[in-house]
Amino acid sequence: MDQSLPSTLEGCHAELVTLRRIHKQELERRQDMEDELRRSQQLLQLVMDTLPEAIFWKDRNFKYLGCNQKFAENAGFRAPVEVIGEDDYDLPWKKEETDWFRMCDRRVMESNTAELGIVEPKVYGDGQQRWLETNKAPLHDADGNVIGILGTYQDITSRREAEIKLQELNQKLQRQAVELNSALEELQRSQLQLIQGEKMSALGNLVAGVAHEINNPVSFLSGNLQPIQEYVDNLLAAIDLYQQALPEPHEALSGEIEELDLDFIREDLPKLLPSMREGIRRVREISVSLRTFSRADTGSATPFNVHEGLDSTLLILRHRIKANETRPPIQIVKHYGDLPEIECLPGRLNQVFMNLLANGIDALDEASQGRSFQTIQDNPNQLTIRTEMGQEPDHICIHISDNGPGIAKADQQKVFEQYFTKKGVGKGTGLGLTISHQIIVQDHQESLTVRSQANQGAEFTITLPVRIKH
Ligand SMILES: Nc1ncnc2c1ncn2[C@@H]1O[C@H](COP(=O)(O)OP(=O)(O)O)[C@@H](O)[C@H]1O
Ligand SMILES: [Mg+2]
Repeated sequence: MDQSLPSTLEGCHAELVTLRRIHKQELERRQDMEDELRRSQQLLQLVMDTLPEAIFWKDRNFKYLGCNQKFAENAGFRAPVEVIGEDDYDLPWKKEETDWFRMCDRRVMESNTAELGIVEPKVYGDGQQRWLETNKAPLHDADGNVIGILGTYQDITSRREAEIKLQELNQKLQRQAVELNSALEELQRSQLQLIQGEKMSALGNLVAGVAHEINNPVSFLSGNLQPIQEYVDNLLAAIDLYQQALPEPHEALSGEIEELDLDFIREDLPKLLPSMREGIRRVREISVSLRTFSRADTGSATPFNVHEGLDSTLLILRHRIKANETRPPIQIVKHYGDLPEIECLPGRLNQVFMNLLANGIDALDEASQGRSFQTIQDNPNQLTIRTEMGQEPDHICIHISDNGPGIAKADQQKVFEQYFTKKGVGKGTGLGLTISHQIIVQDHQESLTVRSQANQGAEFTITLPVRIKH
């Protein structure tokens, strides 16, 4: 027994020593583990603090569980530990910003889906307004349940400010481009008017000059016709008397009289004079028409007889309406209604008539290509001019149509566009209808429209007010 006690004690002691050693080893191991853990935590914090992004994470109730140094400083704290347990509403961000953060957090956690690249404003602890690009992702436990949210963001204020500046600059530029564009259009419009106006006034001057020059010789002719008539009558009467007094003339004389065919002259000469008179009357008429056509506009509206304008324009275009080597003459069909004189810019209106009629002739010429003279004669080229009072009170309508090839549906929208032409180089400018449209719509505040079906010709309708609106 005595012997067994010490041996038992000894055994216990040995056990104790072993236990102590194990315990010590265990302590050392734990210490090592703790050191290791601390080191790795420090490393993690170091990594997080070194990243250019701010990092934070919150629990399901939106309370901060942790963050990196950058985030802590942005929120106005010295160290990340101070942020733990805080709520966004206690932090320096504006209330409406916080509402927005909260809404995003909730959405990410409820939908269990990350949201990346959210651009949002935030007021920092130092009171500065910044722009952030934020990423938010749900945090999960081992079973995959959402237990919170992890967020990172980068300060993109300078980029954002540059973007905003760029946007503003862009908008300003766009505005300027629009202004520039409309100024350019305006310039083109007035340039067009100027060029065409210049051309028309040159043509008008020329025509007026010719009309004036014709007047003088025509006056001589018509002035001399009356005395000629009298002289002829007198001479014939004198010859009659001679013949009565000398019924049997000398042989040489009677031979000469026979040679001259005096009987025919006596019959024909009185007939020549009225035809000369008619010729002179026609030249006079042409001269009047030329003067009507060449009326220069003073800029203010003047009374105008539309039918005279149309007729004088047709006269100017006569050389193109006449027959030529490829086709018979174009038939001109007129249905003139009972119209009052209208108040307008006559020179400009004549310019429109000229453009529309010339286009009609061009279309008919084109249609005549490759068709025989006879085929065209059987189905003649026609230009029809119809005038009537308009549907609206105190308005008139002028319809100018042809039975040419017509205008394809797709082109009907385009014919009034500047430079739209289907004619060959040197033939078409694509300006005639643009200018006509301007003259009717802008100068006279009414409409110029087109109607056409393929192979059934085209009809242009001008509507004009009887009295121009001032
Ligand atoms: N009466 C018409 N019949 C067929 N096409 C026409 C007629 N009038 C105009 N067009 C079409 O509209 C285009 C534009 O006419 P316009 O502006 O006068 O320019 P341009 O006569 O110089 O071509 C013409 O090229 C033609 O294709
Ligand atoms: Mg034309």
